Amino acid sequence: MARRRQIFEGKAKVLFEGPEPGTLVQYFKDDATAFDNRKTGVITGKGVLNNRISEYLMTKLGDIGVPTHFVRRLNMREQLVREVEIIPVEVVVRNVVAGSLAKRFGMSEGTALPRSIVEYYYKSDELNDPMITEEHITAFGWATPQDLDEIMSMSLRVNDFLSGLFLGVGIRLVDFKLEFGRLWDNDQMRIVLADEISPDNCRLWDMQTDEKLDKDRFRRDMGGVGEAYQEVARRLGILPESGPRDLQGPAVMQ
Ligand code: TMP
Ligand code: ASP
Repeated sequence: MARRRQIFEGKAKVLFEGPEPGTLVQYFKDDATAFDNRKTGVITGKGVLNNRISEYLMTKLGDIGVPTHFVRRLNMREQLVREVEIIPVEVVVRNVVAGSLAKRFGMSEGTALPRSIVEYYYKSDELNDPMITEEHITAFGWATPQDLDEIMSMSLRVNDFLSGLFLGVGIRLVDFKLEFGRLWDNDQMRIVLADEISPDNCRLWDMQTDEKLDKDRFRRDMGGVGEAYQEVARRLGILPESGPRDLQGPAVMQ
């Protein structure tokens, strides 16, 4: 097989040049990091599961009219996406107090918020993703006020839809992180949902037991990380056909 050009290697994914101009291949690794790379590890099968979970959620969002970068899944660890210019802002939507919000305000995890909270962080590992406001985003030229209106309304729409979808399979969508990118069709610029949506960047709790089914199991050394990701896929009805044995997937081909 022809050697593909690697465009970028992130913590959990590798991006390769796609088969057509304007496309990329997004390869999902089993590597996990937390706390800005201070904690690293491997979760066997995570890449295969996140590829499926993100495909499923991005497709469902596309079906309700949320534009995304997703084109189609190619194989167990790879998906074809449109090449976008990533906006360097991480959008976090919260429905329940957890993680850094609990820490910052000394609140206990698990308290339902009276309304969803949207926060912005500047995407920079070197700076530890500092929290920012709309003022920083517009002043530094990362997005215009109009772009931000669009990003905010898309994020809330994603939250409403995914909260309902997960509720249907007995999971509470506690919080999650989204990334957006710019896509050009001739002179027209569109903002689309990019990156991935998976237990790596969502907090997912079982409705009945509050059991964590997401990357907090890795961050907090709770064990059962791969099993939790599998459980999310199982509930969504998308566990790879021949079960856990399938999770290794083919090695990256270059
Ligand atoms: P936080 O409580 O640590 O701020 O995280 C909020 C949500 O955002 C949680 O679902 C995990 C996700 N997240 C990421 O995907 N990447 C990150 O770098 C951080 C800090 C959080
Ligand atoms: N993904 C982030 C990192 O790798 C942090 C996290 O998810 O906890 O640093």
